[in-house]
Amino acid sequence: MTPLLHDIAGHSIRELGQQFGTPFYAYDAATIAERIAELAAFDVVRYAQKACSNLAILDLVRRHGAMVDAVSAGEIHRAMAAGFQPGFHDPPEIVFTADLFDRETLDRVVELEVPVNCGSPDMIDQYGERAPGHSKPLPITLRINPGFGHGHSQKVNTGGEQSKHGIWHEQVNDCIERAAKHNLTISGLHMHIGSGSDLEHLSQVCTAMEQTAMAIGASLTSISTGGGLPTPYRNEDQRIDIQPFFDLWDATRRRLEAAFGHPVSLEVEPGRYLSAESGYLISEVRAVKRMGSNLYYLVDAGFNNLARPVMYGAYHPMAVCPAKGETDRSLQEVIVGGPLCESGDIFTQTEGGVVSSQTLPEAQVGDYVVIGCAGAYGFAMSSNYNSKPMCAEVLLDGDTAHLIREHQTMEDLIRGETIPHLTRRTDEATDEA
Ligand code: LLP
Repeated sequence: MTPLLHDIAGHSIRELGQQFGTPFYAYDAATIAERIAELAAFDVVRYAQKACSNLAILDLVRRHGAMVDAVSAGEIHRAMAAGFQPGFHDPPEIVFTADLFDRETLDRVVELEVPVNCGSPDMIDQYGERAPGHSKPLPITLRINPGFGHGHSQKVNTGGEQSKHGIWHEQVNDCIERAAKHNLTISGLHMHIGSGSDLEHLSQVCTAMEQTAMAIGASLTSISTGGGLPTPYRNEDQRIDIQPFFDLWDATRRRLEAAFGHPVSLEVEPGRYLSAESGYLISEVRAVKRMGSNLYYLVDAGFNNLARPVMYGAYHPMAVCPAKGETDRSLQEVIVGGPLCESGDIFTQTEGGVVSSQTLPEAQVGDYVVIGCAGAYGFAMSSNYNSKPMCAEVLLDGDTAHLIREHQTMEDLIRGETIPHLTRRTDEATDEA
């Protein structure tokens, strides 16, 4: 992304800003389609919808042949609303992955026949006890923690003893017994070691997968690499080369096929790889101020809209779009922050909350600041903190910009809240005291 930017996917940022009102997310549909196509060698691309679960995005990935992962009853509901069918299909269109069942979700997956990927031994027992008797064993898959992990931040490393995720790799035999007791068959294995990892760490998972798969044996008909494929957030970051990643996994799969004597399907489960680069958070500059030696652009989006910088010290590329369309502006070092009443509301920060800066064009009130690579874990992690309404989302599809989520209204903000009729008035209580 260049620091002075006028268009996104052929759409004028100024026109989008005027039409939809800032702040809003814009997603370029073509980027998501391209990323899915890059993974076509895998038998199944299963989108980890937690990254960006707007119905229009789910519909888009479905139309491009991807399946979906769900981590809550809400995500199952979204998947179905976007046209994915629940059920034990081969491959299943929706899979539920978690480390626990809350009671409602256990009821839902049983009722809807959504296959489950169990991340704790207790899930096997609870599912086995709750699932009605079938003429043949019901399939489940296991999410294994291979004892090591890796991610862009310790908060998203999902392997090793410090992580709550998955079934510990040494507990596989116990899980085989639990499954047999409940007439469940272990049809698949899954390992997701963390998010924003790298090829080296992701490749180490193949060996761990093969060992665990051999311990389980020929009931296995699918293996999943999990997600975690990195995204180039910085200009200098290289995009991961999918071919060597696929080749390693394909070789693992082929060895398992030879050992079991039947086909084994190979799944990949990316979240950010599909949606991160497609998304932009577009905000308006509302104040420009100097604080000692620091220059701040304060924009109308905050960590209520994009939490990755404050949560992980994550870097997002930024650009300025001048409201009047100028093409020449000098560059300067700036800190970009939002409207929230909290000093951590800074988009230019590194891990641990250290305030940093970016080199951006001069800007004035009314110009736009565009935050790039924001399509994964952007809107999906947004909140109503400071009673800020959640922002709109727009899908750019060729020449058309579709509003795919409206800005929340003030009424939306207080929906569901009630003021109870108190038995004692506060002033009475004060009188007695
Ligand atoms: N599969 C499983 C089981 C997962 O837990 C996750 C992410 C994924 C796939 C997709 O990971 P991805 O391909 O997107 O890296 N909020 C953090 C990321 C948390 C990811 C949680 N699980 C962030 O903004 O970086």
